[in-house]
Amino acid sequence: MAGKVTHLETQRLTLRRFTASDGPAVHLYMGDPLVTRWLPKGRLDKAGAQTFADKNAGRRPRAIAVVERASGELVGHMDFHPWLGRGTREIGWAIGRPYQRRGYATEAARALLAHAFETLRCHRVVATCQPENVASWRVMDKLGMRREAHFRQHLLRDTGEWWDEYFYALLAEEYFGRAAPISG
Ligand SMILES: CC(C)(COP(=O)(O)OP(=O)(O)OC[C@H]1O[C@@H](n2cnc3c(N)ncnc32)[C@H](O)[C@@H]1OP(=O)(O)O)[C@@H](O)C(=O)NCCC(=O)NCCS
Repeated sequence: MAGKVTHLETQRLTLRRFTASDGPAVHLYMGDPLVTRWLPKGRLDKAGAQTFADKNAGRRPRAIAVVERASGELVGHMDFHPWLGRGTREIGWAIGRPYQRRGYATEAARALLAHAFETLRCHRVVATCQPENVASWRVMDKLGMRREAHFRQHLLRDTGEWWDEYFYALLAEEYFGRAAPISG
């Protein structure tokens, strides 16, 4: 679970536990409707962002803070939590708009995949997104994850609309089988 990730460093990023004082920085990106357009829980108001920071600072975090090392700014988060069975995790991502398209999501996710397979000895890591969310499935592609399914009208939104969903996964044997294993 995310609780086992205390601290990961990549070339440009630090992945660390959330703290209660991260609430306002979380609101900066999770309060942005363009960032939360394809997030199932939608936009967070200030209180929601504080609750998100508080919960993930607690004993059972489901997301990890992503901090830009050069500026010290919290730029987004990685979801990382148990999936359905033992040895499986789900990974996800959100990066604030000023920091997008710099390769940060890919860089942070690579470090987490390395942690999942090399340290936690996970068997399988999954990720999902909507087909319209090209940036998200591009990250999955770049990580070498496989698209396993395209579910039609899979998620019912509060608005009454049904979202399609792509389902991606990567197995430990695929991760370790690569000529050049991915790393931070
Ligand atoms: C998805 C998201 C995390 C990607 O973050 P990022 O740090 O910008 O991603 P990267 O810079 O690592 O880019 C990964 C790839 O996606 C591409 N990409 C990024 N933004 C894109 C966009 N808006 N449209 C099309 N492609 C995009 C990049 O060009 C790159 O591919 P390339 O190397 O082939 O050019 C970010 O767009 C985001 O936070 N979106 C809102 C939250 C969200 O939808 N999360 C996923 C929910 S399933």
